[in-house]
Amino acid sequence: MNPEIAKLIEAAQAARQHAYAPYSNYRVGAAVLTASGRIYSGCNIENASYSMTICAERVAVATAIAAGETEFVALAVAGGQELPSLPCGACRQFLAEFAGPELPVSIVSQQGTRLDTTLGELLPKAFDPTYLQEGKE
Ligand code: THU
Repeated sequence: MNPEIAKLIEAAQAARQHAYAPYSNYRVGAAVLTASGRIYSGCNIENASYSMTICAERVAVATAIAAGETEFVALAVAGGQELPSLPCGACRQFLAEFAGPELPVSIVSQQGTRLDTTLGELLPKAFDPTYLQEGKE
């Protein structure tokens, strides 16, 4: 396995330990590798007002953005007992704001099942910032 991706997966697994998921008990960790070679991670954070819950992937990306990083080269997600936890639709759209369809996404479950895919496979024909160029006159 690519050592950088292995490290990214480890970071996602470590972040999963911090998941705050008292309602679903479904813990997710995520980590993004940036063009600068740094790794930013996040976990899911649930809320008593359920819809306020934020997914691990968006926490990881938001943390990177807040640190001034805008170029992403890979994403890892750790979650699910048997089935690797696929990023939800909202997270796919959130990612498409900052990464292209080629972004490699590696997803691992607790039992070690691994799924390697790309953002383009997860969200084909994304509505991304290029469309808003048309709004600029
Ligand atoms: N969850 C994530 O963290 N990422 C996803 O992409 C899918 C869902 C979290 C949100 C919630 O805390 C729990 O998983 C169950 O939906």
